[in-house]
Amino acid sequence: MEKSPDLHIKLADLHLNNPLILASGVMGTSPALLQRMALSGAGAVTSKSCGPEKREGHPNPVLVEWEHGLLNAIGLTNPGAAEEVALLIQAKEILAPLEVPLFASIFAGTIDEFGRVASVIADADPDLIEVNISCPNVHDDYGLPFAADSKSAAAVTRIVKASVGDIPIAVKLAPNVPNIGLIAQAVEAAGADAITAVNTMPGMVIDADAAHPVLYNKTGGISGPALKPIALRCVAEIATHVNIPIIGTGGVLTGQDAIEMILAGATAVGVGSALWYRGPDVFSIILEELRAFMKVHKIQNIQEIIGKALQN
Ligand SMILES: Cc1cc2nc3c(=O)[nH]c(=O)nc-3n(C[C@H](O)[C@H](O)[C@H](O)COP(=O)(O)O)c2cc1C
Repeated sequence: MEKSPDLHIKLADLHLNNPLILASGVMGTSPALLQRMALSGAGAVTSKSCGPEKREGHPNPVLVEWEHGLLNAIGLTNPGAAEEVALLIQAKEILAPLEVPLFASIFAGTIDEFGRVASVIADADPDLIEVNISCPNVHDDYGLPFAADSKSAAAVTRIVKASVGDIPIAVKLAPNVPNIGLIAQAVEAAGADAITAVNTMPGMVIDADAAHPVLYNKTGGISGPALKPIALRCVAEIATHVNIPIIGTGGVLTGQDAIEMILAGATAVGVGSALWYRGPDVFSIILEELRAFMKVHKIQNIQEIIGKALQN
């Protein structure tokens, strides 16, 4: 009988049953919803980014679908680190029997604050901490993202790494920089165990009849199909600059999209907007598509094809 393709991956000393990871922010931090994603087949799940204090986020409208993707400016709505820890502890308990690792996403406004949030969140003992230095929707409150510059990105990486004991960290980069490879290199040298690439791309949707931007925040972050070629290029560039694994994120809606991301150099694949387009069972759907593709192309083990598109 034909063997089923092997989808297991290793990411920063963690073993995942498959490379698909729920991207941060799309399902919040509700333990029940994270469990739902795990039951649907996610290899790991990431919580919504959490900061030092409770934030209400931006007024509505905060999300719009347009021809080629989504545009959102949620504004990092979250309950604050102290309350988040309780949710993460519950989520970890629920996910443990399913053998699905929990990644906890954090953000902050200053380098020291990143250290403080990281050490509070480490109390929940997540399997990995994802450091969001790249949210495009909070310039008014926080100024330029730390992901805009190698030195700031490395400084955040160092302080988070020093604040979380032996919990591995992934640093999440922004697509709208001219030198993402060099930023990734700086983050690796500062101690990151993995890189998540990418966050959303700044954009705007205008309603011509109303003569006004659709989002209350006016600008937002583009995700979904329009982001895929941008994310693929970022992943491919990062892959030539670092040796740590990459979680390729941006516009993955199908099994074939996930294959493209891995061929570009990603070890794992973030799945976010696909939940909007294909519903809550999206992980099992993409997994089936991945297996079918691997059978047709005689790929035994998904790790065989990491970075293969750029090897010749
Ligand atoms: C509604 C929404 C909320 C998001 N919130 C966060 C967040 O809190 N933290 C973060 O790092 N990324 C956040 N993101 C970005 C996603 O994690 C992901 O990087 C991006 O959407 C690209 O992947 P996709 O095209 O698969 O959605 C959010 C994206 C969306 C659509």
